[in-house]
Amino acid sequence: MRIGVLTAGGDCPGLNAVIRSVVHRALVGHGDEVIGFEDGFKGLLDGHYRPLDINSVSGILARGGTILGSARMERARLREAADNCAALKERYGLDALIPIGGEGTLTAARMLSDAGMPVVGVPKTIDNDISATDRTFGFDTAVTVATEAIDRLKTTAESHQRVMVVEVMGRHAGWIALESGMAGGAHGICLPERPFEVDDLVKMVEERFSRGKKFAVVCVAEGAHPAEGSMPYEKGAIDQYGHERFAGIGNRLAVELERRLGKEARPVILGHVQRGGVPTAYDRVLATRFGWHAVEAAHRGDFGQMTALRGTDIVMAPLAAATAELKTVPENRMYEAESVF
Ligand code: F6P
Repeated sequence: MRIGVLTAGGDCPGLNAVIRSVVHRALVGHGDEVIGFEDGFKGLLDGHYRPLDINSVSGILARGGTILGSARMERARLREAADNCAALKERYGLDALIPIGGEGTLTAARMLSDAGMPVVGVPKTIDNDISATDRTFGFDTAVTVATEAIDRLKTTAESHQRVMVVEVMGRHAGWIALESGMAGGAHGICLPERPFEVDDLVKMVEERFSRGKKFAVVCVAEGAHPAEGSMPYEKGAIDQYGHERFAGIGNRLAVELERRLGKEARPVILGHVQRGGVPTAYDRVLATRFGWHAVEAAHRGDFGQMTALRGTDIVMAPLAAATAELKTVPENRMYEAESVF
């Protein structure tokens, strides 16, 4: 069998572990051939690829990023790939294509699959917002990085009697903010799923100070936004995907809390630090299992599906179910955290 593999969309710790696992299972387990397309679907369309042997994936398990490179791609070019599916399959002699990516990549994978490409998807995103899988690799690493940041910020906040506002990633889903906020014991957590009242945060900080706790940490997802009228509000800019992006909720919230509380507040934007560097052991294991199962699925002819974690098992889920809607934080998970505003 000849298997093509590619990584598309934003990078994520654990991508290399999947590539390595696909190559090992395919070459050693089945005697297959594997080629890696460079920079996502661009490599597939433009003919940029290289054969992957055991040596080419040696030493990459713990490495962040992706050895194949990654890129986001405009819809028009993806349509071009779908329209030329049969020719592309023929050109590379592909028996299976394994695209590893987030919601956009899996939607593209579905387009290709509907057009006749034998596709097995592998979900990835630090945001953990893909439906039909309990978890994605990369998420545990991002939560670990953000938790460590919150732990560290508490000691400096306490020394200076300050409010720290930590902005973590998560444009549409607040999983990173929720879990790092819980693990780090943030006193306030703000999620995209629920507009927050700035007054409630002000009251929380005042209450802490009144009982002798002279600092506070608020963990805010980048996609969180204040309830209408609760904070001077500018409109966000519309990005190329049609999403409204707010220039730095972390910055704006810190300024507003400082103004209302009369106490020093500082913003900390973690940004891409959460996406870079070595994956945690959990993410390496999940990524490795996804790679192994993707190759097995290809051999069974289980196409149009993606690998998914259900409980502790790896199962296959239809790409259609995975891309139908984003998996956001439900109300009952917010209650458990206690400090979601
Ligand atoms: O989808 C993962 C993610 O990390 C989001 O949380 C974040 O908003 C986005 O990617 C950032 O993307 P880029 O690297 O293209 O700015």
